[in-house]
Amino acid sequence: MLPSSTMFIFFPALYFILSAFVSPSSGHVNSCRSFCGNITVDYPFALQYGCGHPGFRDLLFCMNDVLMFHISSGSYRVLDIDYAYQALTLHEPHLSTCDSIVLGGRGNGFAMEPWREPYMNPAADNVFMLIGCSAESPLFQGFPGKHLPCRNVSGMGCEDYYGCPAWDMFGHKRAGSMFGSGPPECCALPYEATKAINLTKLECEGYSSAYSLAPLRIDGPGGWSYGIRVKYSMQGNDEFCGACEATGGTCGYGSDGIRQVCMCGNLNSTSNCDSVSSSPGTMPRGMKMFAGLLTYMILRMTTKQIQIASW
Ligand SMILES: *[C@@H]1O[C@H](CO)[C@@H](O)[C@H](O)[C@H]1NC(C)=O
Ligand SMILES: *[C@@H]1O[C@H](CO)[C@@H](O)[C@H](O)[C@H]1NC(C)=O
Ligand SMILES: *[C@@H]1O[C@H](CO)[C@@H](O)[C@H](O)[C@H]1NC(C)=O
Ligand SMILES: *[C@@H]1O[C@H](CO)[C@@H](O)[C@H](O)[C@H]1NC(C)=O
Repeated sequence: MLPSSTMFIFFPALYFILSAFVSPSSGHVNSCRSFCGNITVDYPFALQYGCGHPGFRDLLFCMNDVLMFHISSGSYRVLDIDYAYQALTLHEPHLSTCDSIVLGGRGNGFAMEPWREPYMNPAADNVFMLIGCSAESPLFQGFPGKHLPCRNVSGMGCEDYYGCPAWDMFGHKRAGSMFGSGPPECCALPYEATKAINLTKLECEGYSSAYSLAPLRIDGPGGWSYGIRVKYSMQGNDEFCGACEATGGTCGYGSDGIRQVCMCGNLNSTSNCDSVSSSPGTMPRGMKMFAGLLTYMILRMTTKQIQIASW
């Protein structure tokens, strides 16, 4: 017989030994985190289906160490993911910069599947500059009676952009045709003004996009960063992932592409990994047998020791 005091010490000890084998939180590695070139791809993003937050599924792809961002308007290169500020920086070869202007409607612009809109949008301080838009463009409807939607965004706009070397070859006169006979050659907008930068729909030849990370206004368009700055958000329902990771799990989503799951080693939980390890019903068969065998062996060993001790 086991004295009751021994049982009191023994069973909690057994629980810890067993949970070391059964609990997925011990030595569990995040199988969803990865790298593409020198960019870390981590929650809410992922490169594998089923990993990350469902709002960002089928979004990032790694090709020859180049991280690509894919939405309905096209593919963009990811230059950086800023997890602290929840922002991505994108670039594409047909985006006009201070050094070159790309016309012919070859640029992607920026337009997303509507279901992605709650999860990300170009930053409010990112300026889109539409170039060579037709007088029939929806942008200029009602012009000159109505106000043009064109305006400066965070101190960046077309008047300054015209000062770039890229405009020299177009013989742009700095006096400009802004409020002259025709539409302006360039029209600057924040993303929210149109909700999509679709060059076909807006009848524009090209576009540029710039953002400024400096808190103070940078002098001149040569100092702007050219690219698309996208802010992302998990829409507040991120307690799920917080609880999952706190219990040693990895955040993912189910095959429906909507429901979040917490991956706990070989098991998936609909809440977190504590709920998995405390419920023996979800333990796989092999693990149950192993746990059973281990319990039996420990009990036998301990019983023998107690028998020896009681001699
Ligand atoms: C990645 O490497 C490139 C050059 O190789 C560098 O310009 C860039 O800043 C790096 N990005 C990160 C996130 O470290
Ligand atoms: C757990 O979920 C991930 C992501 O959906 C899936 O790839 C994996 O097969 C699931 N594992 C189990 C044991 O259901
Ligand atoms: C852009 O607009 C055109 C014309 O309205 C449309 O056919 C096309 O699907 C749009 N592209 C995107 C990516 O939304
Ligand atoms: C934008 O800013 C420039 C100076 O930086 C100014 O000359 C111009 O009038 C502004 N444009 C608009 C549309 O407010």
